Amino acid sequence: MINLRHEAVAIIIEICDRYKDEPSPLMLILADVQKEYGYIPLEVQEIISAKTGIPVSDIYGVVTFYNFFSLEPKGKYVIDVCMGTACYVKGGQNVLDKFCELLKIKQGQTTEDGMFSLDGIRCLGACGIAPAVSINGKVYPKVTLAQVPQIIKEYREMEK
Ligand code: FES
Repeated sequence: MINLRHEAVAIIIEICDRYKDEPSPLMLILADVQKEYGYIPLEVQEIISAKTGIPVSDIYGVVTFYNFFSLEPKGKYVIDVCMGTACYVKGGQNVLDKFCELLKIKQGQTTEDGMFSLDGIRCLGACGIAPAVSINGKVYPKVTLAQVPQIIKEYREMEK
């Protein structure tokens, strides 16, 4: 449970106001809130609901359906393993499983130290280099299981 400061509530209300004339403002509001705070917890969804009249259940449904929205804070490094068809047939699931095993988290979770979040995402648009992994937007091509520990180490060493 987070306690939202007064200023944070004011910013969320300002974001809602920004799109008050849009016929379908929810995605626009959520995208801006996600950009501002990095995640959209229930308390924030309740404020959006009170301001827009959109039921919390609808907001929750959208936040949990799209994986670029998050209910929890993301790690410093967001690992997106492509699970699109081309990457899947080239072993994307095995790559994702290897990240899970080494980071000791499941898909959609963040490591305890807040360093890594792990997600499986739809096509990155780079099917020729399947299986592909993106970390904070940097794309790793043709990732093998042997490369996964090296990739993690690369980021851990950046933090030393
Ligand atoms: S399916 Fe992975 S980049 Fe297209």
